[in-house]
Amino acid sequence: MSDRHPDVQNLIDAHRLVSQALPAEQSVKSFFAKCHAALEVPGTAHPPSTAKPLAVCGHLTEALRRQPGDDPLMANLCAAFERISAHLTWRLRTGLDDHNTTFMNGHGNAVITGMNGLEGHQQALFGVSLVAPGVTYPNHWHPPEEGYLVIGAGAWRQEQGDWQHRNRGQTIHNPPHIVHAMRATASAPLLALWMLWLED
Ligand SMILES: [Fe+2]
Repeated sequence: MSDRHPDVQNLIDAHRLVSQALPAEQSVKSFFAKCHAALEVPGTAHPPSTAKPLAVCGHLTEALRRQPGDDPLMANLCAAFERISAHLTWRLRTGLDDHNTTFMNGHGNAVITGMNGLEGHQQALFGVSLVAPGVTYPNHWHPPEEGYLVIGAGAWRQEQGDWQHRNRGQTIHNPPHIVHAMRATASAPLLALWMLWLED
C-alpha cells in the first residue's frame, strides 16, 4: 500500500512551511529542503500503532501547548503533530543508559517516515523525540546527517561543547557521525522533530 496517510502529508507540509521560512544562512534549511524533496515520493504506508503509549507521553499535551506569540507556522506544525501523535509507536532508546531509570522512564522516540515508521521510506528518516522535564538524553551518534526542529524547548550539545538552549521554532544541525546529546529544562518537556538523511 503506497497511499500516504493524510496526517503524514499534513505534518510534512507543515514542517516544510516552517523550514522555508528559516533564514537562508542556516545550513539546516537546505538539508531540510533535500529531505522534503525526497519525501515528495511516498513510501509504504504501515498500519497505525495499537501499542500502549510510554509513560513519557503524558507530557505531550504540555509540550504542544500553544505559547503566547507563537509563530502561525509553528502553531500549524504543533496542530499537525498533535493530529498524528495518537497514531505513532513510541519506543525507548536502549543501549545508551539502560540502567538509568530516570532516562528510561523519561524519554520516547517515534518514527513518522523510515524504518518502523508510519510510512516506510528509503531516503528520509523523519521522527520525533520527547524528553520529560529534568531528563537528559545522553550522548549518542549516528552516521546520517541530522536536523532538529524544536517544538518544546530544551538544550542541545555537540561533542564536548556548551549546551545550547533552543526555543520553539529553532533548529540544530548535526553533521554526520557527530556525538550529540539533549536535555529538557527542569520545568518543561523537550519535544523535537528530527530528520536524518539515509542515502544519496
Ligand atoms: Fe541524533
